[in-house]
Amino acid sequence: MKTIWKGMLFAGLLASSVASSLVSSPALAEDLDGATLFRKRCSACHQPDGQGIPGAFPALAGNAFVQGDGDAVASVLLSGRGGMPNFSGQLADRDIAAVLSFVRSSWGNQAPPLSAEQVAALRARLHANAYDPAPPGGGRGH
Ligand code: HEC
Repeated sequence: MKTIWKGMLFAGLLASSVASSLVSSPALAEDLDGATLFRKRCSACHQPDGQGIPGAFPALAGNAFVQGDGDAVASVLLSGRGGMPNFSGQLADRDIAAVLSFVRSSWGNQAPPLSAEQVAALRARLHANAYDPAPPGGGRGH
């Protein structure tokens, strides 16, 4: 009986730590490098080595789509797709450019970087949400 409870506690802790790592920190424009952004925003699902989890999260390493047309890749982040969250409100154009440039040139991937200007133009064309991080101390004062 005791070990069952321990197991449930462990599973709960694990689930909540995964959940909290997915919750965006409502900060100002992050201004982080692509590797750091990937670790914070993407690696929980796609894994730190970009291999994903078969049947759940696609591998980004060695992925032809990821190394193909930059607009197509960025549109996944700006609009979301299936189980892939929509990051348009959470990541600034330069953050999306940085994280995708990292993904496109890591783990053996070899594709050219994306620019913040390219992401901005695509965001406008897609009518994606504006970058809108919650203000500091958000949730108060309504
Ligand atoms: C909550 C889990 C989760 C997180 C976090 C996440 N993704 Fe995804 N991602 C997915 C899933 C699930 C798919 C497959 C979507 C589908 O089937 O249409 C996907 C698909 C993708 C694709 C398209 C791959 C393909 O072969 O079509 C790219 C590119 C991508 N994600 C990049 C990222 C980047 C970059 C980040 C971080 C900014 C990120 N993802 C964060 C779950 C996630």
